[in-house]
Amino acid sequence: MIQSPLNYTGGKFKLLPQILPLFPNNINTFVDLFCGGCNVGINVESKSVIYNDVDENLLCLYNTFKNLDKRSVFEWIYDIIDEYELSLVSKNGYDYYKCESSKGLGIYNKEKFLKLRTDFNEKKRRGNYDYYYYVMLYVIIVYAFNNQIRFNSNGDFNLPVGKRDFNKKMQQKLSDFIDKIKEQDCKFTCLDFREFDVEILENDDFVYVDPPYLITCATYNEQGGWSETDERDLLTFLNKLHEKKLRFALSNVLRSKGKENTILLEWLSENKEKYKAINLDYNYSNSNYQTKDKTTNSEEVLIINY
Ligand SMILES: C[S@@+](CC[C@H](N)C(=O)[O-])C[C@H]1O[C@@H](n2cnc3c(N)ncnc32)[C@H](O)[C@@H]1O
Repeated sequence: MIQSPLNYTGGKFKLLPQILPLFPNNINTFVDLFCGGCNVGINVESKSVIYNDVDENLLCLYNTFKNLDKRSVFEWIYDIIDEYELSLVSKNGYDYYKCESSKGLGIYNKEKFLKLRTDFNEKKRRGNYDYYYYVMLYVIIVYAFNNQIRFNSNGDFNLPVGKRDFNKKMQQKLSDFIDKIKEQDCKFTCLDFREFDVEILENDDFVYVDPPYLITCATYNEQGGWSETDERDLLTFLNKLHEKKLRFALSNVLRSKGKENTILLEWLSENKEKYKAINLDYNYSNSNYQTKDKTTNSEEVLIINY
């Protein structure tokens, strides 16, 4: 199984062993409508894949990985690490940076990361969106807090430095992802789900829908991110897919930490002849952390119409 090179919040990598067997066989085009980290589309068996997300940065980054040769991607990453004197523990070890693994590399990297971030934001302001810009973005994500992506309202990347660097695991994840995305027959679209043209789809296509969850929070859900209106519009969109005899699967949580998604629950009960919710076990592959896992109380489901 290939893991996203982005440590994407809400990524479905851990749930893949439960989700993938529930997908239909013989998918022609697989639509990953809210692709995020691409964890699902990259691992699905289908003739082709359409990755869609409203976040243009993501799609342009994946497009760079698909179209720029892998050697250049890695060369540029190491050039940027060198130029900004960021840490590379996999090459030099922790002692070289006078840091300990337990405390991380934040202290060493802080100023260097801020310089990179400033230069990146400057390039962004100049509208210089070439492949190099997206490789720079990837390096920023790797060295940023929790590997997250966040831009402020002025369009500046604004996360602080994180604890880790471009370690062996990240290098491997990126390498595997690039190999797979290059061989996959795929394309990238950057649309709000409401704008996605369902008329292009045929009955052997399949739409996977993994929106931000209404009752939980994530970075992309900040600043009024995902609203009740979005939730209702999405359910209308799914009804439309069903009317067109297009198969879909929706990931979501029905209940989490004392909250309930009543909109979704009502929709399910109104359509119980058509759709079914299958319970997933979020802790399935995460059992060591069961006691600490804050999501233990979440009722994670896959809702399908086939
Ligand atoms: C839960 S994440 C998807 C995670 C992904 N399935 C994975 O495994 O990596 C939800 C995604 O929905 C995207 N999104 C939010 N609002 C959207 C909209 N109106 N239309 C399309 N995508 C949207 C966010 O940018 C985010 O990447």
